This record gives sequence, structure tokens and C-alpha cells, in this order.
Amino acid sequence: MTIKFSVYIATSLDGFIARPDGSLDWLPQAAPDGEDCGYQAFSDSIDTVLMGRGTYEKVLTFGDWPYKTKRTVVLSSGQATIRNDLKPLIESSSLAPCALADYLEATGSKSVYVDGGKTIQSFLHAGLISEITLTVIPVLIGAGLPLFGPLSADVHLDLASSRSFANGMVQSTYVVRR
Ligand SMILES: NC(=O)c1ccc[n+]([C@@H]2O[C@H](COP(=O)([O-])OP(=O)(O)OC[C@H]3O[C@@H](n4cnc5c(N)ncnc54)[C@H](OP(=O)(O)O)[C@@H]3O)[C@@H](O)[C@H]2O)c1
Repeated sequence: MTIKFSVYIATSLDGFIARPDGSLDWLPQAAPDGEDCGYQAFSDSIDTVLMGRGTYEKVLTFGDWPYKTKRTVVLSSGQATIRNDLKPLIESSSLAPCALADYLEATGSKSVYVDGGKTIQSFLHAGLISEITLTVIPVLIGAGLPLFGPLSADVHLDLASSRSFANGMVQSTYVVRR
């Protein structure tokens, strides 16, 4: 398989991607000094966004759809309800991770941004994630939606790079060992 699946996500220091109700108020409103934390470079490197229904519903609340130039797939065990104006831009899928990877590759995707806690967990569990860029925010929120979950075997990663920001965020990129 030549398709690459990457994660680019922020967590609290205690490992949550959102509060239990999905809120993200603990995330810094802006990165320090106009820094985009590598987001644009990451975005330029991917051609497809794959997200879980939970993340899709959250992104809808942000206003303008931010992925207009990317192929986008929303994962749901049922049929995700895609907003009418976004239907030309977004596919819904209920395929299992390996079948979805085969489908995406066969239909032209080369580099996929995997987003959403449960979606990331299921792709990690299936051994499909190649790279994880994790930005850790120096805040403990005590409870929430976890980034990581159960695995059938340990996943070993190599640290490719790490940097810190003036506001205490630490961003590390890990490559999953094969
Ligand atoms: N901190 C950050 O950088 C960051 C980034 C992204 C998201 N978030 C936050 O994370 C929250 C959403 O995360 P989440 O843990 O709920 O996960 P999610 O992956 O966004 O959404 C979970 C849903 O996706 C579907 N799904 C996921 N994996 C599937 C699979 N293998 N097969 C079929 N369906 C699958 C299911 O939908 P159905 O229930 O319809 O079956 C599942 O309930 C939101 O609050 C969002 O704001 C934070």
C-alpha cells in the first residue's frame, strides 16, 4: 500500500482531544507570534481529509467549511448526514479501516489526514497510521475524549522532530515503526 495516513492533532497534557461534551475551549485561541505550528505545510502535504462523524459535526460549528480544496470523507457506522451545501464536497463512508484504505487508494488518494479520536484509534488499531504530529497543550482538563485507546499490540514510534513554543506547547512528530 502506497497511501500514507497521517495524524495532526492537539491534546491536553492529560491526553484528551476535547472535553466530555466535545468542547475545545481549553485550546489556545491563537498560536504564539502568528506561528501556525506547521499546519499549512501539513495541509499542503495531504490530498484527503478523513474524519469521524463527531469531528465533522464539530467542524460544522466553526462556520466556513475549511477543507473546500480537499477530498473529504466522513466516517460513520451508519450514514452520516452531510449538510446539503457540502454534499458535492464530502463523501460518507461506513467501510472498515482496511477496506476504506483500499477504496481511497484505488480512487486516487495518496496522502490522508486522519482526524477524530475514534477514527484515529480505529486506524491505529488496523496498523494504517504512518505518522503522528501531536501538539501537547500545557493544561490538564481532567476528563474528556481520549486520543488513544485499546490496541491489540504495542505500537512503537520513532521521534522525527520535536519543538516547543513560547506558550508552552510542545509539538512532536512520530513515525510509526513497521
Ligand atoms: N484537539 C484536536 O485537535 C481535535 C481534533 C479533531 C477532533 N477533535 C474533537 O474530537 C471530538 C470528536 O472525536 P471522537 O472521539 O468523537 O471521534 P470521531 O472519530 O471524530 O467521531 C466518532 C464517530 O465517527 C464514526 N467512526 C469512527 N471510527 C469509525 C469506524 N472505524 N467505523 C465506522 N464509524 C467510525 C462513528 O460515527 P457513528 O456514531 O455515526 O457510527 C463514531 O461515533 C470533537 O469534539 C472534536 O472537536 C479535537
